[in-house]
Amino acid sequence: MTAVGIDAMEVWTGKLKLDLAETFAPQKGDDPGKYTKGLGLHASSFPDAYEDIVTMGANAAHRLMDRKGLEPEDIGRIDVATESAFDNSKPVSTYIAGCLEQVYDGDFHHANKGERKFACIAGTQSLDDAVNWILAGRNRGRGALVVATDTALYARDDAGEATQGAGAVAMYITEDPDLVELSTEQGYGSADETDFLKPNQQFPSVDGKRSIQVYLARMREALEDFESVSGKSHPDDYEYIPFHTPYPGMVRKAAVLGYRHMIRDTEIEAELADQIGTQPRREDFDSAEAFEQAIRDYMDELKNTEAYREWYADTIEPTLDISSHVGNWYTGSVHIARMSALRHAVENDVDLAGKRMLVASYGSGAQAEIHAETVQPGFEEEVLASNIDEQIDARYDLSWSEYEQVHDRHNHEKSVELEPFTQPDSEFVFDGWGPMNERKYTYVE
Ligand code: COA
Repeated sequence: MTAVGIDAMEVWTGKLKLDLAETFAPQKGDDPGKYTKGLGLHASSFPDAYEDIVTMGANAAHRLMDRKGLEPEDIGRIDVATESAFDNSKPVSTYIAGCLEQVYDGDFHHANKGERKFACIAGTQSLDDAVNWILAGRNRGRGALVVATDTALYARDDAGEATQGAGAVAMYITEDPDLVELSTEQGYGSADETDFLKPNQQFPSVDGKRSIQVYLARMREALEDFESVSGKSHPDDYEYIPFHTPYPGMVRKAAVLGYRHMIRDTEIEAELADQIGTQPRREDFDSAEAFEQAIRDYMDELKNTEAYREWYADTIEPTLDISSHVGNWYTGSVHIARMSALRHAVENDVDLAGKRMLVASYGSGAQAEIHAETVQPGFEEEVLASNIDEQIDARYDLSWSEYEQVHDRHNHEKSVELEPFTQPDSEFVFDGWGPMNERKYTYVE
């Protein structure tokens, strides 16, 4: 079967930074360790006054097209995934195409454009749609542009305020890709849940503690569903496991559950039995509560074993680095986890070509999806072309009062003018409102 997957990927972070330990924690009267250790976050990215989901998405896409030498006619589909859309009718993909048409001679008049919504999993769903379109043979030799772009803002003083972020990921999906091939096997865990939602409101209603339980339950279902088509997973099968990362602490919880599941009835469980016993089995307990308590006790011991710590350090930790410096990018989050893993491989000379990753996406509301990806020989060149580290380092470090102004500036219910903190350079910028309340954009040389 034809290999289809991600040929290239570019990332665009919001240009401002809020340092959680230095700036956020003191204002909240919290120990910085709550953020850096508990949540696993050092900083959040924010958009400058002239940035929004369109500029970040268009800038990531422009960088990608320039680097790969693509013209509009090479692109047969533009799908944007977002949960920060500002229009219930006109999709963000049309705005992004309009931006790109300002700088290319051709146009996207024959590209199918859309917008996907299912909280943070919509980026992966758009990727999936693009892969299916190519596998169905409907692409006429063209590739698909998938853009995941979000400004993840919470109401001031909401518990989620610590897990904000802003940025975009652009991916080009083709046959014979340079970065990763996607497996056709995939598993779903999906149920009607109310853990996080935005019923016609900009800032989410979140039950943060519940969202942890729902995330873990849906991930577990998705893994079982994936295994029903791919066969049982073993920890050694995957070099990295990028998860949707609303904050790294969530992934820490999911990782130990996943490991416990994967080692069940394997030589690893047997080898660990001397230290921590074997895993509790439901049939050995009179009640569900007693069984669940035994599982929690087993996992507490499991996460302190050397076997688990080594696996976590090699397979999970490397996926969290970018996220820990930029915060939650909602639809882009699992995709920066993948990028983080690939970058780690390049920096540490891990020979990843031909090896597999397991990619675990999640969206509140709620659905998890799991598929495998095979890393392609061109991955190193692709990773080296990314300038994400320079972008992260170049962000303007906000003071507390500046952060408050930026939050107000991007609050749809306020209309606050704000002098930018940074200077746009060869990029798309928000340029005010048109007569039908549409947003306008220009390219600044
Ligand atoms: N040092 C180290 N760790 C600390 C600490 C310290 N000084 N203080 C607290 N912590 C730990 C806590 O033990 C906790 O870890 P645990 O969950 O492993 O026990 C973690 O830091 C967070 O502390 P907590 O008191 O639970 O924080 P909170 O009540 O402010 O809420 C969230 C945290 C994540 C629930 C909240 O930020 C939120 O709702 N975020 C949005 C979640 C979201 O986006 N969900 C949907 C997408 S999947």
